Amino acid sequence: LIVEGKTYEFPTIEGSEKEKAIDINTLRDTTGYITIDSGYKNTGATKSAITFLDGEEGILRYRGYSIEELAEKATFLEVAYLLIYGELPTQAEYEAFEHKIRIHTMVNEDMRRIFDGFPVNAHPMGVLSSLVSAMSAFYPDSYDEKAPDSTELHIIRLLAKLPTIATWSFKKSQGHPVNYPKNELDYCSNFLHMMFALPVEDYKVDPVVSKALNKLLILHADHEQNCSTSTVRLVGSSKANIYSSISAGICALWGPLHGGANQEVIEMLEDIKADGGDVAKYVDMAKNAKTSGFRLFGFGHRVYKNFDPRAKIIKKAADDVLAKLGVNDPVLEIAKGLEEAALHDPYFVSRRLYPNVDFYSGIIYRALGIPTNMFTVMFAIGRLPGWIAQWKEMRTNKEPIGRPRQIYTGATPRDFVPM
Ligand code: MLT
Repeated sequence: LIVEGKTYEFPTIEGSEKEKAIDINTLRDTTGYITIDSGYKNTGATKSAITFLDGEEGILRYRGYSIEELAEKATFLEVAYLLIYGELPTQAEYEAFEHKIRIHTMVNEDMRRIFDGFPVNAHPMGVLSSLVSAMSAFYPDSYDEKAPDSTELHIIRLLAKLPTIATWSFKKSQGHPVNYPKNELDYCSNFLHMMFALPVEDYKVDPVVSKALNKLLILHADHEQNCSTSTVRLVGSSKANIYSSISAGICALWGPLHGGANQEVIEMLEDIKADGGDVAKYVDMAKNAKTSGFRLFGFGHRVYKNFDPRAKIIKKAADDVLAKLGVNDPVLEIAKGLEEAALHDPYFVSRRLYPNVDFYSGIIYRALGIPTNMFTVMFAIGRLPGWIAQWKEMRTNKEPIGRPRQIYTGATPRDFVPM
């Protein structure tokens, strides 16, 4: 191989050019031209102007605004607007945006009939991804190349209808009728109303709960190009419609290594509680994971080598919300014990195994009355503006269809021998 005038020697064997077995590691180390990076772990494989993340320093910004400030001062819809359109809205722009969302919160009754066919024990993420995908069938101009561009309306529909659809699975699991949206309420309160109001009593949304939810959704609104977001961009890069692309993102988020992690955290804390709540024993097991087989969920993060900035905010929010609501959750004590170990035990400190956002979010969701199997659904509602912004950016930039470069590592040519 000759690169920039230099010749590199590699062992080759029989086969076509593409099948020639070259030592990839040598090739990478010597020429620097090829990197195998399964899952785009370390390469700057793509670019974006939406979210800045510095894993070393523990910094996260949406369109230049710090996550700390937004979580404290903004509404979730302001952040959604910022992510999708690039700037914070003026008062007039915000009111127009919010109004458009309010008038689209209802969901086609035929979608309800699809929903009715799901079994009562269906996982809410399976239901959510299916129904979001079904939206493309209800809005066929979303996949009609010749239709006048109605992307803006599809974006509004997604933001407006996702919370409505998300509440249905919970209602079904309780044997309760679904609640129609109450559009005089703000975004978070409307969701809480649809989740928890019963026809037999006058449900009032607790402002503490609504504010906490607003914060949680903002903290989850975008996190640059991770598993689900890259999926949304990749699916959308084939010019697949926005509903299908977002549905694919929801599926990617479902996995326990991604959005499903906070469910795993709560289940882990519950298991520890059921086993007597001996935190020290589990800290030891975590240190000896190879022999104990115990996996500590909610600690460490692929990009954060420092504290996950969202975890700091969410930890404080968890303390505040639980105190304000007077919730005394025994798993919180266990969580605090594990956190103590993470912050002071040299094993965790040297490995920079800090609790991440998933470690605390489940604890707050639980305090707000959200069932464990809905945690990832809450993540999806929060992440929706980020996915939309990333999809829109990819389409606006006219990015080519995604096609990871593959290096073949399989068998060399061989003759077929009949059985
Ligand atoms: C997220 O917020 O999506 C998670 O922290 C996963 C990630 O970004 O890698």
